Amino acid sequence: MRVAVTGGAGYIGSVVTEVLVDQGHDVLVIDDLSKGHRDAVPDEARFVQAGLADHRTIAAALRSFKAEAVIHMAAYSLVGESVARPERYYANNVVAGLSLLDAMRDAAINRLVFSSTAAVYGEPAEQPIEETAATAPTNPYGETKLAFERALRWYADAHGLRSASLRYFNAAGATRRNAERHDPETHLIPLVLKAAAGELPFVTVFGDDYPTRDGTCVRDYIHVEDLARAHVLALLGLKEAGTCLVYNLGCGGTGHTVREVIDTAARITGRPIATRRAGRRVGDPPVLVASSARIQRDQGWQPHYDLEEMVSSAWRAMQR
Ligand SMILES: NC(=O)c1ccc[n+]([C@@H]2O[C@H](COP(=O)([O-])OP(=O)(O)OC[C@H]3O[C@@H](n4cnc5c(N)ncnc54)[C@H](O)[C@@H]3O)[C@@H](O)[C@H]2O)c1
Repeated sequence: MRVAVTGGAGYIGSVVTEVLVDQGHDVLVIDDLSKGHRDAVPDEARFVQAGLADHRTIAAALRSFKAEAVIHMAAYSLVGESVARPERYYANNVVAGLSLLDAMRDAAINRLVFSSTAAVYGEPAEQPIEETAATAPTNPYGETKLAFERALRWYADAHGLRSASLRYFNAAGATRRNAERHDPETHLIPLVLKAAAGELPFVTVFGDDYPTRDGTCVRDYIHVEDLARAHVLALLGLKEAGTCLVYNLGCGGTGHTVREVIDTAARITGRPIATRRAGRRVGDPPVLVASSARIQRDQGWQPHYDLEEMVSSAWRAMQR
């Protein structure tokens, strides 16, 4: 299939591109490089540097590539920044996203896989979280992702758009080619590994008095390659006009506490990792764990990698 990947120079997008190329698909990466890295795009993929709001360039790129589907990953995704500057998040994650949908209509493309997030759920009462749980985002980041998901439902009814919204929990790990390179970095595993490598003096643990097994927050981590394979399955699953799928993506089970992640990293790297206690952050629920039963049942997706492999692949990538 001929697939355009927006945000394909970013962390997850570059791995999605890698997996698509490995599976024999033709890929066009569209990225404005505001956060991404040109060298993360595999040589086999075509690359266009453009912002999604540039309707004319995007529509022309989709048409000349003869794209049959789009995987839409381009977005801003820093929760704290979204609270301080919501206008940036509405402009990029909603307005520029709708401009992409217009460009897709101009280019007669009716299949889309969208990077959504667990942040659409806010602070759910029940764990593991199923797709039927109430959506109640507690920050503009989650709110803008949910707004775009909702638009997809109306576009399905009105225009027959087929879409799958993938609500990721915490992506982690690396492939042999690509690793996490966010700036600023806010994700736990790369921060812990930077502390192990001596690039950071310590890791801050926000809250150690939660009602969890060791007092620190429980989160659900998913290897970026498992996540990438889910995109291809979801895309191939968009068989009928008007299909509007929603899938959670995590490894489920009992998740991992912040302390467990730090201990795992200390064992794998063989280095001590200093920590510093800080108070709880507003809007950080004690436990966020996904039920991914729906995508497993509908699309036959299974995660292959555990926390051990997420941390060790990220560590190997850092050492390269
Ligand atoms: N990393 C996670 O754990 C996680 C969890 C849940 C959801 N997500 C979502 O997954 C997607 C990818 O996340 P990531 O961690 O790879 O982020 P990332 O910042 O590494 O990648 C996003 C890419 O989109 C590009 N981009 C942003 N706005 C653009 C625009 N208007 N036009 C063109 N390109 C633009 C950036 O340059 C970047 O390369 C995002 O939509 C994010 O919200 C990520």
